[in-house]
Amino acid sequence: MATLIAVNVGLPKDVAWRGKRVRTGVWKHTVSGPRMARRLNIDGDGQGDLDGHGGEQRAVLVYQSESYRFWERELGRDDLRPGHFGENFTVDGLADDEVCIGDRYRIGGALFEVTQPRVTCYRVGLRLGEPQMAALLVSRRRPGFYFRVIEEGEVEAGQEIVKVSSGPEGMTVAEIDGVLYLPGRTREQVERALRIPALSPGWQGSMRALLEAEGATAGPGNAGLTVAATAPPPAWQGFRPLTITRVQPESRSVFSLSLADADGAPLPAALPGQFLTVKVQPDGGVPPLIRSYSLSGEPGAGTYRISVKQEPHGAASGLLRARARVGDTLDAAAPRGTFYLADGAGPVVLLSAGVGVTPVLAMLHALARAGSARQVWWLHGARNGTEHPFAAECRRLLDGLPHARIRVYYSRPTSADRAGTDYTDAGRLSPERISGLGLPTDADVYLCGPVGFMAGVTDALVDAGLRRSRVHTEVFGAGASLTPGVTSAVPARAPHQPAGAAGTGPPVSFARSGLTVPWNDDHGSLLELAEACDVPVRWSCRTGVCHTCELALMSGAVDYSPDPVEPPAEGDILICCARPSEAVVLDL
Ligand SMILES: Cc1cc2nc3c(=O)[nH]c(=O)nc-3n(C[C@H](O)[C@H](O)[C@H](O)COP(=O)(O)OP(=O)(O)OC[C@H]3O[C@@H](n4cnc5c(N)ncnc54)[C@H](O)[C@@H]3O)c2cc1C
Ligand code: FES
Repeated sequence: MATLIAVNVGLPKDVAWRGKRVRTGVWKHTVSGPRMARRLNIDGDGQGDLDGHGGEQRAVLVYQSESYRFWERELGRDDLRPGHFGENFTVDGLADDEVCIGDRYRIGGALFEVTQPRVTCYRVGLRLGEPQMAALLVSRRRPGFYFRVIEEGEVEAGQEIVKVSSGPEGMTVAEIDGVLYLPGRTREQVERALRIPALSPGWQGSMRALLEAEGATAGPGNAGLTVAATAPPPAWQGFRPLTITRVQPESRSVFSLSLADADGAPLPAALPGQFLTVKVQPDGGVPPLIRSYSLSGEPGAGTYRISVKQEPHGAASGLLRARARVGDTLDAAAPRGTFYLADGAGPVVLLSAGVGVTPVLAMLHALARAGSARQVWWLHGARNGTEHPFAAECRRLLDGLPHARIRVYYSRPTSADRAGTDYTDAGRLSPERISGLGLPTDADVYLCGPVGFMAGVTDALVDAGLRRSRVHTEVFGAGASLTPGVTSAVPARAPHQPAGAAGTGPPVSFARSGLTVPWNDDHGSLLELAEACDVPVRWSCRTGVCHTCELALMSGAVDYSPDPVEPPAEGDILICCARPSEAVVLDL
């Protein structure tokens, strides 16, 4: 007979962690007497970060006394008490390898349903003073699980837990946790998981991604945890010299460089929308500048074209403009990126502002080359005709598509610009204008431009009925950070060298942030070094399970400690558990 041993609750509070403040509800205390279990929470309970925790599907976290005994032995601890694993219900019985997703249990006056295993998050490790805990819970197959509250009612320690019905497919919590996080999953397991209606929507999305990604059940990388795993592996390792075969002005400030293999062999095809990372060498023996540029030419042409906007005072763009000549070489890492045109037959919106046109132009080339019958909306914002690169090229490509619609917005047209010919609308391509366009709501949108522009446009697209998940964006710089629960009001600083004595280890280049830093063993991982430099980062478990920190390694090699639970996609690394073993260039 399974029994509810303890009911534990706790409201979110701020705790100090690594010089920061974290808001978390992982500190729970045991309460006596009856408590109401409600749709979102047990009375007196709360979560600090509702993006990662809480909600209807994760209302009650359950952990087993048997697992407490296991961890006491494993961690050599005798101080573990109910609630220490952040759980609301400490239970006798209900082992992770017996309880199945969709099982229903009655406890006291309430009815519960099992929805998913525990979220892999660093906060359980923070609570226990065991930083590796998130990974250990997965690798030892003792995650614990969440209940959804089907019927609200009172619960109390000591009550019997009565199984009311079994979930379909008989898939245990331990099994499904392994399907998502551990290597060796089979397609059949993923399909079974998807047949369980009680599985939370978040986990269903991960399972669908696993199923859709070709080879996801076999090769390295985990499409259930990151889109990075869906891109093909890079075509070559590190940097290789490419020859500049053409330098072409495209507008007042944008110029293109065509690049070819030194021996004339065709270069590997990139996906339409991917980018190339190049090294630009300034004078004076200083480290090279590393910058990324979206490929703007026709994918599969055997050569590459990048198009660079000369920024005022921009170091690399200025050097390229001043120096790049036909016959010179440019060191380039293989094309990468997850912003690429997906196959499909539905409508597609290619939306850009300024030099953000480059990746969507490659997509337009791909559609034109395929003679696509898709409905294609080309929406572009420029200042005027002098700052409108690729105008004739786009027009030619769009003219060849049977279902193309074009809107070009000039924010400040000059007297030389012809309305109806050079541009369709005077004024900015603003969110307000997007709403009135009548865009098809089933379209896939590919959006590139300044960060603020993309945020406003995305909201306008969603307001106009398009799905947020189908609005794909490319950022020409450091991406947004994801630091769950961290609330410290750190002033937003531009990336910088870390405080303290300079390291003596191999150089670490953060390509998007334009920063190179010598490695210092004082930092436990590349993630910690990035944090010390205020380079924007994304993470959740910090111990090699969740793949939130996965990113492209353009060159170099790393050692892991601990080893990732499942390896990242080929050409990627998990920075939370990696240290450089030689000079590295990261897409960060
Ligand atoms: C995936 C990806 C794709 C990209 N694709 C493209 C592309 O297709 N085309 C393109 O042009 N760029 C693209 N970029 C951006 C590109 O990588 C560079 O960031 C850009 O060229 C600026 O580099 P820079 O060295 O010239 O400028 P930096 O020297 O790095 O300067 C960055 C910014 O600071 C400003 N700045 C620098 N010094 C000063 C100063 N003293 N005073 C005031 N302001 C200053 C510059 O104007 C510039 O805007 C892409 C970036 C990424 C990550
Ligand atoms: S943060 Fe989870 S794998 Fe790195």
